[in-house]
Amino acid sequence: MRISGLAFLLIIAVLIVTSCASGAKPAPAPGPVPATSPSPPPATATDASKLYAVNCAACHGPARKGTQMGPALTPERLASQTEAKIKETIEKGRPGTAMTSWKGTLSDQEIDALVRFIKSTAP
Ligand code: HEC
Repeated sequence: MRISGLAFLLIIAVLIVTSCASGAKPAPAPGPVPATSPSPPPATATDASKLYAVNCAACHGPARKGTQMGPALTPERLASQTEAKIKETIEKGRPGTAMTSWKGTLSDQEIDALVRFIKSTAP
């Protein structure tokens, strides 16, 4: 009798617990929906490497190590030049050499991105 009484209590307890667990389950609160706005493209680094590949690699080499047509464009090699100086070279070119002016061809932002790319990103 004692045991079956205990068993009975146990069953009641289990029933209460399971009914509580299954009953009246509140729907998960619809938390703030994470903003799904497309993040802006991770600017310049990739753009600059693309710009470089299209416009500059032919002479300065796909890995920026230089070719017979043009010198290497690496942070190491450009260390002694300021960004302003490098920008000037790209904008105006070097008269009398194969390095032409890129001012009309590339936008100011594109030239800036290229300057940062060749001056600061190791190939
Ligand atoms: C047709 C070949 C050619 C192309 C294309 C070209 N360059 Fe040049 N570039 C040269 C040559 C040759 C020189 C070396 C000029 C000199 O003797 O002063 C040079 C020099 C430079 C220099 C100066 C390097 C230094 O050591 O002072 C920079 C910076 C440069 N180029 C950037 C670029 C960028 C950026 C592009 C692409 C937008 C580009 N070049 C495209 C031929 C080219």
